[in-house]
Amino acid sequence: MPLSLISNDKQKRSGISRAEIADLYYNCPTDELISIGQRITVQNHGKSILLRGLVEFSNYCDRSCLYCGIRKENDYVKRYRLDKNQILEIVKLGYERGLRTFVLQGGEDSYFSTDYLCEITKGVKDYTGDSAALTLSCGIHSRSQYRELADAGADRYLIRFETANPELHSFIRQNIPLSKRLKAIETLKEEGFQVGSGFMIGLPKETDEDRIDNIMLAGELELGMAGIGPFIPHPDTPLAGSLQHPIELSVRATALLRMVLPKTHIPATTAAGTLDPQGREMMIQAGANVLMPNITPTEAKKNYLLYPGKICLDESGIQCIGCLSIRVKPLDRELSFAKGDTL
Ligand code: SAM
Ligand code: SF4
Ligand code: FES
Repeated sequence: MPLSLISNDKQKRSGISRAEIADLYYNCPTDELISIGQRITVQNHGKSILLRGLVEFSNYCDRSCLYCGIRKENDYVKRYRLDKNQILEIVKLGYERGLRTFVLQGGEDSYFSTDYLCEITKGVKDYTGDSAALTLSCGIHSRSQYRELADAGADRYLIRFETANPELHSFIRQNIPLSKRLKAIETLKEEGFQVGSGFMIGLPKETDEDRIDNIMLAGELELGMAGIGPFIPHPDTPLAGSLQHPIELSVRATALLRMVLPKTHIPATTAAGTLDPQGREMMIQAGANVLMPNITPTEAKKNYLLYPGKICLDESGIQCIGCLSIRVKPLDRELSFAKGDTL
């Protein structure tokens, strides 16, 4: 248990201790957790749900994470890369529809060299200026590479720590230590990025104590955004056939995460919407304040299958924005096209 990662000082800063979170985790009924999470969310973020347009630019990956459907060894994946012009075209369409944050996500694909990623970043920022934020999410790189990307104009970086349990991390990420991932997060912050991170929940061998550690570690990292994705076993990975936990696990964790991180942006994740048709709505009720419509062209996104059954494969991101605006109404929320910087 990496409690050493969580100093007493930092536990105090988040205002709620591990013991209190553990007590709520084990003993508090779900309805109550949701109502506390919701109250804190509305107090800190109002009734707006921020939108971030997701562009899945490459499903090539040089890594072999055991959980991931696009891992290098999965020969069933039809691989694709979007080029700079395609990415810029998608961003322009999203911008015209009002989006003011774009997240470029992909595998750790060496074809996208730092120079090329910088070119794409500059292209996006030349078009949007400071009126929109650009987030990158393409894994671990060196400090100098992160610096070049920041200099090119990238504002934010998304990199989940996946699990706070160092042994489990090494197992699922094929011997890449948790410390390396955490170091990358620190380096990104030092290089001026607003950093988003988070974890999957329901991984094989994960314990209740690991889940509490996940929440506390997210609190310690002082993140701009923190996300929870239910782990969904992919049939063409070594973790095929693992137990699928119910959505309630993610919903409860979202409420606890909100208690630890009142001001941090928390997404209602696509994985939650995949696991349960109402998954994203449940996460919003428990404490999420961000939705990420997938604006990747439909012919590409159907091949970015991290897990089976992914939603919104036949709809364009623009259609999803319409769908989401209807979905949040019964929750007494409204979509916001604001840039949504770290609070
Ligand atoms: N390659 C980059 C990285 O690993 O940070 C970014 C892309 S990666 C596919 C984005 C996220 O997908 C991962 O951080 C992981 O949490 C999530 N993911 C991958 N496989 C998953 C699965 N089977 N179930 C749920 N989430 C999954
Ligand atoms: Fe590659 Fe990221 Fe999937 Fe790991 S999680 S295999 S780094 S895309
Ligand atoms: Fe994509 Fe509803 S959010 S179709």
